[in-house]
Amino acid sequence: NNARQLGNLPANICTPSYLASQAKALAKGQAKVTTSVLSEAEMKKLKMGSLLSVSAGSNEPGKLIVMKYQGAKASVKPVVLVGKAVTFDSGGISLKPGRGMDEMKYDMCGAATVLGVMKTIGLLNLPLNVVGLIPACENMPDGLAVKPGDIVTSMSGQTIEILNTDAEGRLVLCDALTYAERYKPETVIDIATLTGACVIALGHHASAVFSKSDELANDLLAAGKKSIDKAWRMPLWDEYQPLLNSNFADIANIGGRAAGSITAACFLSRFTKKYSWAHIDIAGTAWNSGANKGATGRPVSLLSQFLMHKSKK
Ligand code: BES
Ligand code: MN
Ligand code: ZN
Repeated sequence: NNARQLGNLPANICTPSYLASQAKALAKGQAKVTTSVLSEAEMKKLKMGSLLSVSAGSNEPGKLIVMKYQGAKASVKPVVLVGKAVTFDSGGISLKPGRGMDEMKYDMCGAATVLGVMKTIGLLNLPLNVVGLIPACENMPDGLAVKPGDIVTSMSGQTIEILNTDAEGRLVLCDALTYAERYKPETVIDIATLTGACVIALGHHASAVFSKSDELANDLLAAGKKSIDKAWRMPLWDEYQPLLNSNFADIANIGGRAAGSITAACFLSRFTKKYSWAHIDIAGTAWNSGANKGATGRPVSLLSQFLMHKSKK
């Protein structure tokens, strides 16, 4: 319900700063949770040029929200959850069509999931360590907005040619995924309303799981089945990687029309080589449209079940 409420809030209220204040409020109520928030100036020092390029087109300051749940000894490696928080996705200069654009207030449902899971594991008092990372910004077309053809340098050092400013989720996630390295994680899972192509592929019943690890993917699918919050695995084969070739940078931010949710996952995979990782695309499952318009709170159940199971192992 917490995740649903956050998702349903309009984007003029649910800004990156608002999400940061909610994360701080959650920590106040939970003894084992602490929250800190990085400002744009701090992200600039960390050289998060990719995330900041998305935030540049908006007057709302971007934030990197860092939540830590410590339920086990400090020496136990954490699970890191990374949730996309684009509090409104207008598309930027590659502006979206007007029809249904209001639903892009839901583009922070990955972050809402992370907040919901942090609260759940706190209430369950699970003996685990979990870090929640929430890269939060707006994607808007103001005067300083990033432009198609611009090249930015990510925190990883890899350069990115931005061919479509509407493929912004991967641009904010990649710097958070690099930041995750500092926690020497056991596992990293990102959750994102990443691609319309995912909705075309799977519709509204299953979230899409991408991972090179059969074990991690199977654990996520099993948790989804058990919690009636289903997911389905999609390929992450190297054959798809050349679709992201750029003539001018290390990588392009789009791969063309074919296999759009897979090339988005391939993009993220370039930033996750140092740990075991899975990506969950929730574009089709995070909210309902039409007469029942509203956030679903998925996949809080799937991930809570996954963590409960892990804590028993
Ligand atoms: N937030 C959207 C993805 C999305 C679209 C989720 C529709 C749910 C419903 C994402 O930022 C986006 O715009 N992706 C583009 C990528 C494209 C430009 C390669 C898309 O899916 O059209
Ligand atoms: Mn977009
Ligand atoms: Zn988006």
